Amino acid sequence: MLRISVLVSGGGTNLQALLDAQNNGILQSGRISQVISSNKAAYAIERAKRANIPVEVVEKDSDFEANILAALGKVKPEIIILAGFMYILSKDFIERCGAKIVNIHPSLIPSFCGLGFYGLRVHEAVLKSGVKVTGATVHLVNEIPDGGEILAQKSIAIHDSDTPEKLQRRVMEECEWQILPRAVENLCREIAPKIFSQKYPGRGIIIGKSPSGKIALAYFIMGRSASSRARIFEKSGDEVIIKLTGAKDIDSSLILYAPLRVFGGKIIVTNGDQTDTICEFLNNGSSFEEALRTREYEPDAPHYTPRISGIIESGNFFKLNILKRENAKCVRNFYEYEFDSGFGRFIHTYDHDVNSWEKLPSFDGEPRLVRIPDNIDEFANLLWNEALDRDNKVSLYVRYYDDARNYHDRIFNNYGGE
Ligand code: GAR
Repeated sequence: MLRISVLVSGGGTNLQALLDAQNNGILQSGRISQVISSNKAAYAIERAKRANIPVEVVEKDSDFEANILAALGKVKPEIIILAGFMYILSKDFIERCGAKIVNIHPSLIPSFCGLGFYGLRVHEAVLKSGVKVTGATVHLVNEIPDGGEILAQKSIAIHDSDTPEKLQRRVMEECEWQILPRAVENLCREIAPKIFSQKYPGRGIIIGKSPSGKIALAYFIMGRSASSRARIFEKSGDEVIIKLTGAKDIDSSLILYAPLRVFGGKIIVTNGDQTDTICEFLNNGSSFEEALRTREYEPDAPHYTPRISGIIESGNFFKLNILKRENAKCVRNFYEYEFDSGFGRFIHTYDHDVNSWEKLPSFDGEPRLVRIPDNIDEFANLLWNEALDRDNKVSLYVRYYDDARNYHDRIFNNYGGE
């Protein structure tokens, strides 16, 4: 369950819509854990108290954003909702808060939005312009006022009898209170790790940053055959290797490899011997991309398991890749992400569960957005004990960096004589 902090300045009807949605089950993947009001007289505070939600009042002064961050620190929310919050937050705040910020705006963005457009002013401008429809927009907050990615919109027709006040009320009732809770529920579902629901995602790589900015990575292997399950992860210096437990007479080329190597300060994580290809290419002054252009998916017909790879080349961004078979050709998808504190990207080999005799479908679409907590044990336990299927999981490795050199790590092995 994700934690949600709601920032308010006034009446709090949008907060009420969220509280109601929590009671009637529309909002179920997140919990409102805190309300922060910029105004000690806001009626929103009464609404929060009635619902037994802790309230913080942070009034506008010179340390406004620092004080909001301190209040948020008590809850460490994954999502912050601006529900009638009448201030614009700085880029610095957005980067440091470690959460996704959602805003509700009472117009159809990109019309009637940005600096100066708030509250009743929006509806006055709408009526003055003569447009025939208006509505509301739920969007993610970035450094541009009302400029982030749109999550949901709803429109209504403008009536001849509308005044700014009447229009404000109708936009709230018919648009804002309808779309805000649903958009928040969708966002909660999107950022909660999706592996929970899949019994056999295969092998998976997660790279990201914790809310406090620690680089985090995880790699897991799952397996269904006896040989696949006879494996353990082992540390070898700063690297991770896979070993077989017991003498097993098997073709080991696809199941024994180094999942994690460190080369020239770069961290490489993969599900096969392409780890070594990447290191060789880096050693020759070539790139991650050039290395993977020489490789393709695994030859294990009929599945043709994708090869997945990741590299952390600096503290600012990371790359992921998948080599997969489509129409008997190799598709090479490369992804590059700026680190986003509190979040990571998750790529795995098999897209969804199928019956045991069917071909396993290759991972499809963009690496999924997942939440990365601050505590390595919280993350490792979430993956090992909750997300990964008890029988299919084989090994998990998790590493959190304190700085460029120092890290903590955790290894879990399911089989293999422990
Ligand atoms: C709502 O109409 C909201 O969309 C708007 O203020 C009102 C707050 O009402 N927000 C903005 O204009 C932000 N730019 P509430 O306090 O009853 O939720």
